[in-house]
Amino acid sequence: MSVRRLDFGALENGAKVEAVELTNAHGVSVRLMTLGASIQSLSVPDRNGKSADIVLGYRTAAEYLSKPQYFGGTIGRFANRIARGEFALDGERFKLETNDGPNHLHGGSSGFDRVLWKLEPAWRSAPESAVFSLRSPDGDSGYPGTLDVTTIYTLNERNELTIEYRATADRPTLINITGHSYFNLAGEAGSSDVMEHRLTLDADFYTPVSSTLIPTGERRAVQGTHFDFRKGEAIGRHIRDGRNEQIRYGRGYDHNFIVNGPAGKLRRAARVEDAKSGRVLEVLTAAPAIQFYSGNFLDGTTIGKSGRVYRQGDGLCLEPQIFPDAPNHPDFPSGRLNPGEVYTNKVVYAFSVLR
Ligand code: GLA
Repeated sequence: MSVRRLDFGALENGAKVEAVELTNAHGVSVRLMTLGASIQSLSVPDRNGKSADIVLGYRTAAEYLSKPQYFGGTIGRFANRIARGEFALDGERFKLETNDGPNHLHGGSSGFDRVLWKLEPAWRSAPESAVFSLRSPDGDSGYPGTLDVTTIYTLNERNELTIEYRATADRPTLINITGHSYFNLAGEAGSSDVMEHRLTLDADFYTPVSSTLIPTGERRAVQGTHFDFRKGEAIGRHIRDGRNEQIRYGRGYDHNFIVNGPAGKLRRAARVEDAKSGRVLEVLTAAPAIQFYSGNFLDGTTIGKSGRVYRQGDGLCLEPQIFPDAPNHPDFPSGRLNPGEVYTNKVVYAFSVLR
């Protein structure tokens, strides 16, 4: 394992962005930066051993703030949507910013992906890890309580990148932290979108949404629907079916799938295969659910690292999480964090190749 520290330029206000690159003996290399405790690049070999960067992102740090797309970021305090930005905790009502139509999304416009985290010196003693920390003050983005958060990235020689999110609070609050990498297993600089990637989702149920992408409360069986990815399906197969209300609301897939098997236990949630390069990604998590987002809001106005215009479907996100709008659905897994408890969310990206 080799570790390299580098500067990743500066933001418009002059603040410096640091980065760490972890590289294993099999040619997997990940660059992590203090802005958003994000994955800035992730190079993985194809079936012939040729590496390519398989995550979307920007070339410079400043672009991450001037045109945010949540590329590779740590998302918090509460990933995904909260209806009308409203929730109650112990009888007290809270009002958050509405930054996605009528709803609150991904912690708001100064969420965890937009701030500079501290790169902890711990990486010196554990060279296969990079540890980022952040103190989010009481009232930050409208959420109660001071929150201490860490994001730990670990790369091993089995070509697994593990991300662990941890947080503690000094008063009851809400939490739902995830990662937001956009994958294109053919390579970010390549010429294809992800419509032919074959996706498997280990989910018998998903949560249908309203037109503003808020769960209706229903848990719907995927059986016999365009949402049945249990045996593997090309992402593009049903994505243009305009008769399907859920596809229309999402402009494609932008839905929360309930991962089979008990939450709290690390289990596979998703597998993505790209037949051309042979690259395979498996996502394991202990979270109750995973958001599958097919890059529907990439509209050709974002220029990526290698100078390529990103268009709809050029990347897919798989975001392990609790259910969207959980604070307003008492029967959804709870996003509550009490003082004295430690919140964790663990995600493993495991890479391999098809032979
Ligand atoms: C998540 C959401 C999408 C979109 C992206 C960021 O995946 O579910 O609707 O907001 O983040 O563009």
